[in-house]
Amino acid sequence: MNHWTRRDFLKTSGAGLASLTSLNIADSFAQGSSSERIRHAVIGTGGQGSGHCRSFAKLKNCEVAAVCDLDPSRRDKAAASLPNASQVKKYDDFRRLLEDKSIDTVSIATCDHWHTPIALAAILAGKHVYVEKPCSHNVHESRLLVKAARRYKICVQHGTQRRSSGEAMAAVQALREGIIGKVLAGKAINHQLRKPIGRAPVSHSPEGVNYDFWLGPAPAHAFTNNRWHYNWHWFWDYGCGDLGNDGIHQVDVARWGLGVDYPKAVVCSGGQLFYDDDHETPDTQTIIYEYEKCHLIYEMRLFTPYALESHDNGNVFYGTEGKLEIGRKGAVVTLKDGAVKKIEGPAENNMENFLAAVRANDPSRLNARIDLGSISADLCHLGNLGTRLGGQRLEYDPVSGKVTRCGGREAEANALLTRHYRAGYELAYRG
Ligand SMILES: NC(=O)c1ccc[n+]([C@@H]2O[C@H](COP(=O)([O-])OP(=O)(O)OC[C@H]3O[C@@H](n4cnc5c(N)ncnc54)[C@H](O)[C@@H]3O)[C@@H](O)[C@H]2O)c1
Repeated sequence: MNHWTRRDFLKTSGAGLASLTSLNIADSFAQGSSSERIRHAVIGTGGQGSGHCRSFAKLKNCEVAAVCDLDPSRRDKAAASLPNASQVKKYDDFRRLLEDKSIDTVSIATCDHWHTPIALAAILAGKHVYVEKPCSHNVHESRLLVKAARRYKICVQHGTQRRSSGEAMAAVQALREGIIGKVLAGKAINHQLRKPIGRAPVSHSPEGVNYDFWLGPAPAHAFTNNRWHYNWHWFWDYGCGDLGNDGIHQVDVARWGLGVDYPKAVVCSGGQLFYDDDHETPDTQTIIYEYEKCHLIYEMRLFTPYALESHDNGNVFYGTEGKLEIGRKGAVVTLKDGAVKKIEGPAENNMENFLAAVRANDPSRLNARIDLGSISADLCHLGNLGTRLGGQRLEYDPVSGKVTRCGGREAEANALLTRHYRAGYELAYRG
């Protein structure tokens, strides 16, 4: 994509993330054509990141030119899986990758506690960003991410890929057209069996891994196998529980279908009824997001196999004339007279949609724009926050970015809207 204009970058040399603030911001991409080849990089090549490698490599006029992971075995495996394996650049430090001017776009599929720090650094380096869900680890990070994307006119796509699903797009359109009348409630359902993880003793971190860098902005903690690959999801320092993991997909669709953003109040309940192990995050949660004209209800039970209650992970919208269900079997309307209708529509590919927006230099073309995705992430953060504070009804003001009511625990709630960043791992952009 040589003729896309960019300013030169200044070299970074400092060890801390904050050093990336010294980068010049790339000019916006000049309007490109769909035939231009995009050089993409994947940061975090675990379960999802290796999927990103496969998916981006398959897209037309896109090559995965670089991969980055703090675990060299995962990084090398991902690189070797690519059609251009011998040319793929391999990094263990994303800051060095971001200095590479030949890279146009990056996707971030690391643990959640690294999403925003890396995304902000990438934006400052002029790279367009596909960031996995949840885009942030807390509400403060969501706000910064949206602000930075807007300020530097960077395309930031959120990994809530249901926004590109054919049936979800068609179902939302049908809801807008009144297929089930006035829609007064929407459920976001996350029912599945997530097995206990046991208790893992402190042990040595794997050979060749810079575990301190993996911890990054999170508090220092001795290595255990449960705080490592995948199971980090269940520790508040790195993950957002299953509400921020799988639940965010359903919360996002519910919010989209209901046509709402921030609620006037969030009623939280949940805890551990099933786990007796290293998990910090709940296995059971019911969160009600109260809006002026409707309710969004999140139900999570991680001890029940898929489809036990005929719904697994999915959504139900309840209207005055019927209900609309979206699940893994598609989207189905049942009207109050018993008539049943399947809803279908043409699917898009969330990653392809990202590249199209980048080529057009037009963030408004993104199906899962960061300003939309960040609100869904915030709903998850607020739900978790109220659950962690013992089950609260809280009110959050999106203008001031503050919790205004939380059963007398406002100071604790506001503290959980952000986190302490370890020295050397402060955010590169602070608004
Ligand atoms: N959109 C979806 O449907 C979907 C599906 C699965 C996972 N995800 C998201 O993808 C992300 C990754 O999930 P996963 O299941 O692949 O986890 P994982 O633990 O398997 O992989 C994370 C990888 O990131 C690497 N990593 C961590 N910090 C890094 C850093 N600073 N620099 C470079 N590499 C770093 C780890 O070494 C690891 O290999 C999560 O945020 C998850 O929510 C999204």
